[in-house]
Amino acid sequence: MSTVDDVTSVRYERMRWNTPLSQTHADLLLQRLGISAGAGVVDLGCGWGELLLQAVGAGSTTGIGVDIDDAALARGRKLAADRSLDKRVTFLNQEASAWREPADRVLCIGASHAFGGTATALESLAGLVRPGGRLLFGDGFWERPPSPEATEIIGPGIMPLAGLVEQARELGWRVLHMSVADQREWDDFESTWLAGRQAWLLRHPDDPRATELRDELDIRLREYVGVYRGVFGFAYLILGR
Ligand SMILES: C[S@@+](CC[C@H](N)C(=O)[O-])C[C@H]1O[C@@H](n2cnc3c(N)ncnc32)[C@H](O)[C@@H]1O
Repeated sequence: MSTVDDVTSVRYERMRWNTPLSQTHADLLLQRLGISAGAGVVDLGCGWGELLLQAVGAGSTTGIGVDIDDAALARGRKLAADRSLDKRVTFLNQEASAWREPADRVLCIGASHAFGGTATALESLAGLVRPGGRLLFGDGFWERPPSPEATEIIGPGIMPLAGLVEQARELGWRVLHMSVADQREWDDFESTWLAGRQAWLLRHPDDPRATELRDELDIRLREYVGVYRGVFGFAYLILGR
């Protein structure tokens, strides 16, 4: 079987980013981040760094992406090379919580768990934003009170949006912009998360791994539409201090 067809390598292939986000929403966040020429941008838990690459590609800035997923980092390096950004964007395999170098703009989207949770992430990231800088913090919240099943699937420590905003404020941040992923962004995120493997299944219906994979994808889609769709939300906060 070719590497391209391998079920693991197709997992993320249909995703532009690994978060519920449209290009229009990304454009808004980048505009609100106000990245000026010469600024340094660091993305902690960057995945393949699509937003980081767009941030750097839009101006004369430099970027560093930090993640612990080698395959994602390799994809990021290739994207950087394809866009002639490889001299300006570096991808490093490193624990996000071990990063110590402050930057003008810090991105941390869907990776608060790498710091031990929302509060610890907001505390740790305070020391990584240069004076006058900005943090783009993307984190989950309960859009509606969760059922016990939703809490079990998503995990503990999630707050309602008001709690998330209040937490940031209590930890010394000013909320300069706030927007949440809409339903279509969520549906696209969940669909593209499954789409690489759905396509693989259609190509390999008789593969020995097909039955287990079909069950896995069916469970995820059932949980999304039946348990946490419209219940688990995702917020993008642009923070300063
Ligand atoms: C939900 S994804 C978000 C990726 C990216 N920020 C985006 O928006 O597309 C979370 C990322 O955090 C990374 N991650 C998880 N634990 C980490 C850690 N301890 N240090 C660095 N990155 C970590 C994962 O590998 C994954 O790429």
